[in-house]
Amino acid sequence: MPKLEPCLLTGSILSDPLSIEEYIKAGGFAALKKATAMKSEDVISEISKAKLLGRGGAAYPAGKKWEHLSRIEETPKYIVCNADEGEPGTFKDRFIMEKMPFKLLEGIIVAGFVFKAKSGYIYVRGEYRKIQKQLVEAIKSIHKAGFLGSNILETGFDFDIHVISGAGAYVCGENSAVLNSTEGKVGRPRIKPPHLAEVGLFLKPTLVNNVESFANIPLIVTIGGDAYLEAGHPDSGGTKLVCLSGHCKNRGVFEIPLGNVSLRDIIFDSNLGGGMAKDKKLKFFHIGGQSGPIGSPEQLDTIYSYTDLRKAGLTVGSGAIVVMDESVPILEYLKEVTEFFIHESCGKCVPCREGNRQLLNYLQMLSTPGAAATGDLNTLRSLVRTMSDASFCGLGQTAATALNSAWKLFKSEFEANVRPEVGAQ
Ligand SMILES: Cc1cc2nc3c(=O)[nH]c(=O)nc-3n(C[C@H](O)[C@H](O)[C@H](O)COP(=O)(O)O)c2cc1C
Ligand code: SF4
Repeated sequence: MPKLEPCLLTGSILSDPLSIEEYIKAGGFAALKKATAMKSEDVISEISKAKLLGRGGAAYPAGKKWEHLSRIEETPKYIVCNADEGEPGTFKDRFIMEKMPFKLLEGIIVAGFVFKAKSGYIYVRGEYRKIQKQLVEAIKSIHKAGFLGSNILETGFDFDIHVISGAGAYVCGENSAVLNSTEGKVGRPRIKPPHLAEVGLFLKPTLVNNVESFANIPLIVTIGGDAYLEAGHPDSGGTKLVCLSGHCKNRGVFEIPLGNVSLRDIIFDSNLGGGMAKDKKLKFFHIGGQSGPIGSPEQLDTIYSYTDLRKAGLTVGSGAIVVMDESVPILEYLKEVTEFFIHESCGKCVPCREGNRQLLNYLQMLSTPGAAATGDLNTLRSLVRTMSDASFCGLGQTAATALNSAWKLFKSEFEANVRPEVGAQ
């Protein structure tokens, strides 16, 4: 493993994550002080140079998003931090909020300053009750220390942060659904365009970024965009928090320098995943979240970067890597994934609401000897295409990604129980 320098976690994990004194002693709020002494466009320029790709899953360049919002004159502007983290196998935002809440909050305050916003919101998934309370505590401490409230650092900048609880729906993590839910409406995605930078929270210009994206902002401001870029891949600066779970020996959150280590390193290096538990063989890994593709052992030498993974038909996504050993039948695994999407589909559009149920029916037929015919496999594949083309939002569009990639890798398992067509020899 190459040395991680500079990075997000080093020096950021305090003995008491809620001690603002400790945070300030470790250099906390120096980035905010630096940013408030800079022109807003210069802060944005550093973020663009850093090539920070959004860490929430869609990998949209943060610099581009910030530049877009800065060109909009309408006020007020709102800052929204997406801390919904409903993706199974993803727990890195929880890690940041638990272990380094001040770093996240500092990143949000920098954004508030850049856009002259008055209010920021952190939309935290409903299940993270304890974290919501901790964030409220951390915000109170920042107020007392003078980095939130009126006339912050005597710059005339007034800003506050509010913690909003989600109710535990995966679709509420979609950026427009986050805004609807924050406004107290049903958490369903909106039609886009208009872009959220133009018509966002309360129909006003809004910045929505993920927890990990915001937590990287103080580091970028401190070291500069060029240094941040250098720590990662030429197409995407910095590091990525990867969540390892499943059948590897070491499970948890690991910081990976983008473009420097392979998937094999991540799963097998003794400082990272540590290899397969119980000395079983790796059968597949599910990468990027439930909506991401399934990867095979043949792809282990792929470098972990947005570009390399994309070229290999894989994805960084949310940072999740679920490792599965040889004991797991692929159809059983896919049934679990599909049940998740059936449960989480908001029901607004037919391709997703009905499509996911049909996927499960087909998977059940394919696991039952003689229940499915060859023609059913073709229907299943055309259903996958329809869902991806015709679903309203990212949930339905990507719900069958795992199935589609698994089909290419484990065709024999899909076909094992299929009865021959009548008349076939
Ligand atoms: C169904 C669905 C769920 C999502 N869940 C999350 C989530 O929990 N957290 C998150 O940051 N982004 C999530 N996203 C992505 C957001 O729509 C958006 O891209 C992200 O919040 C933008 O922040 P970023 O650019 O910093 O990544 C989800 C997208 C979809 C389609
Ligand atoms: S694809 Fe349609 S039904 Fe599925 S979550 Fe999105 S809007 Fe709701």
